[in-house]
Amino acid sequence: LHKLMFSFIFVLGVSLGIEVRQSSSDIVAKASDKVQIFCSHDKTDYRMMFWYQQSPGDTAMKLIGFLNYVAVTLEEQYRDLFSITGNLGGDSAKNGSLTIQVKGREHSAVYYCAASKAQ
Ligand SMILES: *[C@@H]1O[C@H](CO)[C@@H](O)[C@H](O)[C@H]1NC(C)=O
Repeated sequence: LHKLMFSFIFVLGVSLGIEVRQSSSDIVAKASDKVQIFCSHDKTDYRMMFWYQQSPGDTAMKLIGFLNYVAVTLEEQYRDLFSITGNLGGDSAKNGSLTIQVKGREHSAVYYCAASKAQ
C-alpha cells in the first residue's frame, strides 16, 4: 500500500479578499480511501466555489472543478475520481465539499478552495 500525504491549507483567502475555511490541515490516505474535505465561508451571496490541485513541485494550481449554486462542473481529467457537492443557494453560510477517490501518489497534493460571486 502506498501511503499518501495530503496537505491542506487550513485558511485560504485567495479569492477576492474573502476568507474561506477548509477542514483538516493534513490528511494521510492510502489507495482506495475516500477523502472528503470541506470548504465553508460566510459570504452568503458568493454562489460559486472552486477547487484547485497543486501537485508537489508544481507551481501551478490546476482547476479541478467548481460549484455554481448546485450545478457541478468537473474538468475532464478529474471526472472519474473526484466529486464536488454542496448547495450555494439560499441566504445562509456556504459549505461545499470535494471528495477524492484515492488511487495513488498522483493524488498527493495541496488542495485549495476559493469562492466568488456568480459570474
Ligand atoms: C459542512 O458540512 C459537513 C457535512 O454536511 C459538516 O460535517 C460540516 O460541519 C459543515 N461545516 C460547516 C462549517 O458548517
